[in-house]
Amino acid sequence: MSKHVRLAMLGCGGIAKAHLNAYKAIWERGGRNWNIVATCDTKIERAEDFAKQIEAFSGKKPRTYSDMNQMIKDGDMDGVDICAPHGYHHILAVPCLEAKLDVMVEKPLGITCKASQIIIDAAERNGRLLAVAENLRRYLGQRATYWMINEAKMLGNMRMFFAQKAFFWNLPMQAEAMQWRAERLVGGGGLIFDSGAHYMDTIRYLFGDAQTVFAQMRTYERRTFQHPTRGDVVADVEDSWTATIVFKSGVVGVWSFFPAARGKSFCNVVYYGDKASFEDLSGDVFHGLRTEGELTFEDGKKRNYKDIEIEFLVSLSPEQKAKLFPLGLTDGFHLECYDFIDAIANRRRPDVDGWDAFKAKAIAEAIYESAWTGKSVTIEDCINGKVQEYQKAINEKWGIK
Ligand SMILES: NC(=O)c1ccc[n+]([C@@H]2O[C@H](COP(=O)([O-])OP(=O)(O)OC[C@H]3O[C@@H](n4cnc5c(N)ncnc54)[C@H](O)[C@@H]3O)[C@@H](O)[C@H]2O)c1
Repeated sequence: MSKHVRLAMLGCGGIAKAHLNAYKAIWERGGRNWNIVATCDTKIERAEDFAKQIEAFSGKKPRTYSDMNQMIKDGDMDGVDICAPHGYHHILAVPCLEAKLDVMVEKPLGITCKASQIIIDAAERNGRLLAVAENLRRYLGQRATYWMINEAKMLGNMRMFFAQKAFFWNLPMQAEAMQWRAERLVGGGGLIFDSGAHYMDTIRYLFGDAQTVFAQMRTYERRTFQHPTRGDVVADVEDSWTATIVFKSGVVGVWSFFPAARGKSFCNVVYYGDKASFEDLSGDVFHGLRTEGELTFEDGKKRNYKDIEIEFLVSLSPEQKAKLFPLGLTDGFHLECYDFIDAIANRRRPDVDGWDAFKAKAIAEAIYESAWTGKSVTIEDCINGKVQEYQKAINEKWGIK
């Protein structure tokens, strides 16, 4: 890190706590060429709580705000880390970018494709860095899997993958952070593009750009929450789907999530090449490739995934290791926050930029559009705005033109 970087944290709720822990970890490991000068949340007590915690580890108390515009007016910042609900990403990111601040925004980039494009346009127009807080590809597991598939080519030429989970999940909706996720117009959709944004980034990281999607989705379970002013509200976001995703490379993937399954449960996540398969045993179709896995070769021989991680680490030069895991950090949140600070300090492209996030997010939007229209949808048509039957009402609700 070279230049001193002054940051603000905008949105001090659930995931911002992971960002706060990340900044603390970076500080404690000696990466100190930065400080947090402001915290902001519409619930001022959250901004104040964050400011106290920041003072406890760094010795300096940030200013606190409930209004982003006042924070921008007071100046004195280089970058803003935005951890607000999806629908606010463009509303908060654009004024920051227009004020010539660099921005890191949580996934998914914008609530719709148009919102994502608006954020990217503002960054490009103002010559600012736009990073997206995608933590999963930064863990050793995904780095090693990328190397195993794309560099060591242990599976041969990639063919198909299946990421499917069926179980019963009585997801409670009462918590505040679940309520804005329950309604299509408020949250933009359900898990396809919430936790799904992670898996879309994972598969794009591993297999390159996607081309076409055909999908079906359903809302099987009746889930409700008590809204502070509207009384009983029924969640209308999807709870189940199955999507076939075709990549430009020819790889075909099937991604299904069915948490409304009565009876038998299963989780099956397997990647197939023309020489071997790799089974991800983490039991997760959103945040996988982080714990257990097994390779099976065509002659039946097997290799434990942990061996692959070791082989990958041994293959790295000290410079490569320092680039992937600076200061010895290994947690994805710690690494994404370090990457943002370092990108600002050195005026370099962040590891996951706006276009990376948009191209990944567009796969999720293509799933919605395909399920909504009953047709196969191309990623390109989602990115360039030709297809927006599903997103139209969401754009209208959030004033996105
Ligand atoms: N990377 C991950 O693993 C991960 C996990 C969870 C959430 N997220 C993402 O983080 C974002 C936030 O999710 P969350 O679970 O932390 O939500 P949350 O509801 O827990 O927190 C959001 C915070 O933003 C504040 N806020 C809302 N509008 C604001 C405004 N206009 N100005 C300032 N503050 C405002 C709220 O008061 C709240 O404190 C979402 O985009 C979500 O997709 C990422």
